[in-house]
Amino acid sequence: MGCNQSTSAGSVGRESKANVDEQTYMFLCKVKLLKRLPQDELPALAKSATEVEFKPGQSIIKQGEEGNEFFMIKKGTADVEINGKKVAGLKAGDYFGENALLRNEPRNATIKANSQVVTLKITRQAFSSLGLQDKLEFPKRGAVGGGVAVQAEIKPPSEKSTEDVQLIKQALQANTNLNTIANLDEARIKAMSDVMWKEPVAKGTAIIKQNDLQADYFYIVKSGSFSISKAEDVKEGQSVESAAAAQLGSVEAGGSFGELALLYFAPRAATITANVDSEVFVTARQQFKEILLRANEAETKQNLDYVGRCEVFSAALKDSEKKELAAAMHEMTFSKDETIFEQGETGTQFFLLVEGSVVVLKDGKEVASLRATPEKAPYFGEKALENKEPRAATIKVTSSRARTLWVDKETFEVLLGSLSELIKRGKDGDTVVAKSVAPTAADAKRFGVIKFADLKKHGLLGCGGFGAVELVEETKTGNMFALKALSKGYVVKSGMQASVMSEKNVQLMCDSPFIVKLFETYNSPEHLYFLLELALGGELYATYNKRNMWGNEACAKFYVAGTVLAFEHLHGKKIVFRDLKPENLLLTEEGRVKLTDMGLAKVIFGKTYTTCGTPDYFAPELIASKGHTHAVDWWTLGILTFELMSGHPPFESATPMQIYAKVQKGINAVVFPKKLKGDVETLVKGLCNSNPTERLAMKKGGIQNIKTQKWFASFGWSDMEGLSMKPPYVPTVKSKKDMKNFSANKEDMPPQIPYKDPKTGWDKDFATSA
Ligand code: ADE
Repeated sequence: MGCNQSTSAGSVGRESKANVDEQTYMFLCKVKLLKRLPQDELPALAKSATEVEFKPGQSIIKQGEEGNEFFMIKKGTADVEINGKKVAGLKAGDYFGENALLRNEPRNATIKANSQVVTLKITRQAFSSLGLQDKLEFPKRGAVGGGVAVQAEIKPPSEKSTEDVQLIKQALQANTNLNTIANLDEARIKAMSDVMWKEPVAKGTAIIKQNDLQADYFYIVKSGSFSISKAEDVKEGQSVESAAAAQLGSVEAGGSFGELALLYFAPRAATITANVDSEVFVTARQQFKEILLRANEAETKQNLDYVGRCEVFSAALKDSEKKELAAAMHEMTFSKDETIFEQGETGTQFFLLVEGSVVVLKDGKEVASLRATPEKAPYFGEKALENKEPRAATIKVTSSRARTLWVDKETFEVLLGSLSELIKRGKDGDTVVAKSVAPTAADAKRFGVIKFADLKKHGLLGCGGFGAVELVEETKTGNMFALKALSKGYVVKSGMQASVMSEKNVQLMCDSPFIVKLFETYNSPEHLYFLLELALGGELYATYNKRNMWGNEACAKFYVAGTVLAFEHLHGKKIVFRDLKPENLLLTEEGRVKLTDMGLAKVIFGKTYTTCGTPDYFAPELIASKGHTHAVDWWTLGILTFELMSGHPPFESATPMQIYAKVQKGINAVVFPKKLKGDVETLVKGLCNSNPTERLAMKKGGIQNIKTQKWFASFGWSDMEGLSMKPPYVPTVKSKKDMKNFSANKEDMPPQIPYKDPKTGWDKDFATSA
């Protein structure tokens, strides 16, 4: 009966055989993790439970220690202590330590018996000897911030008394979440206070409703009181982690709520109802973002000033062109004796020296020295804006630090046109200089025509996000594909129209063995369809969980390298991906890795501003709404590396806001588990630099800086690129219709919302075929 009677190492207390009674089974039914198992597996698991007793004062588990046991309290009460402080109490029906059934991880709290406590214990050994790890289904972590809901209504600011201004100021300063996402200095507090308007809220009104998609406002309570409730407020059998995250209670005058909506668009997490007739001050996300962006304007203004100090630009460019260029230029810093580029290299970047000094070397001889001054920003590499000739000289830094702004040929020409034409025209000329057209889906090579009517469905591969993915066969050829369907009703309701169109366009531009190909798109009355390349090996996230591959270095290197090559392809086309996570990596039947889901991907020249992605993978500049570049992808690569090697992302927390607070503290505040010491730690820290311009791949050398990392020392990059490297794990795929590596859970399906055509024509260019 799969029973493990022995006291395993680390477990203390008196142990006896459990009565496999109804009660144990009922306990197990409530455990969040175990809900991911087929229910008929629970009786066998219940049989493997052993009863362990603890005396008052005895620790059942200890914070920081690794364990492989899961406990449920049958009788008695216990305290949850974090860093020696009691944070919660547990009673019969509560449980803790379910993650220990999957992997070794330090316990995040101490649980101490405060009476005689009887627990039921299940060990990882028992769990895995029943083969349950393989049968667990893991929900995918959802992305946030993708949609643009209908523009929120903004009301004119209300008149405010001195007391009102004071109340707003104190409320903003007291809201720790808000201070996590923004540096609220006096100017910003004043700006927020200035735009807020007053609204009455009648007793009993739910001002925020859980799961509501209309989530655009932040509120400060002027008078009255509000209560917070959550539908999934399961008291009995609640895990420590979810209890900590629930934070239910009330908000009184001077309190505030709804701050997550200021960061990005996401359904509300709780319901907030007025207890009495109340009044609130309100502001909308757009207003908050505009206030934060003022700091960015200062940076662009500074860049504009630098552009103006460059002779060639000040003679050739009109003011509007200078502004555009200033917004698209990136910073790169160098230290003494570093070369900015070397004679003979081919380069695509043009540099402005805005701080420091350099020498120009030709054939090893110094031919000039250049220094940035408040009047003059020397430039070099201008030939790169004309053609791809080898660099004519070496530029070497002579000051202790040099700061440059750079732009590449493609960006320059898409934004402004050819430099030589602009020079010919001059800043006062009126000839029109043609801009080059950014590559689009229309230029992409197509893979042949596949008709929707020729597709036969074989089964469900996955659910989630915005719809279902089915295994389909083109009956004419026998070729197999994945068909992703999006409910048009849901797309419109959640404001995803533009991002769905962009998803299609971006994915059509891609043609890489490391990225899932898009073959066709179709448009039906209720759905939009993507016909995608099939990867029958399953999702990397599910595979890692089921096979417990966390920490396997050979696997991590292979998948991280595949992602680097996918990013190389995307960034070469100026596409930023923005949603890397193991859920978005698929395995082919040979075990090769492919990036999928372009829902948040976008072509950018310069910076973009919408905060979006998956909270565990958010880069600090996304949280600070400063504008972001392709550098966010390199941050996420660091997070992926950490997660694959340790089993959890570095900033993991119970709530998104807690994640953001940790992200803002930076990667150096993260304790790296033993497995992540040495070269892999260096790689993760090189990628997860809080300063986007300092991340590996954003610095001189680009992606090569990652490929040459010590962690990849014996890695055959050319074999990887040429697809000749032997994959470290080959999934079992018995036929081209074998769906065993997928477990679609229909409960993860988004609601099917009937589609009412808004008659804006948003979807008219969606289909590539009928
Ligand atoms: N290709 C794209 N999405 C897929 C999925 N979910 N499963 C299998 N192959 C896919």
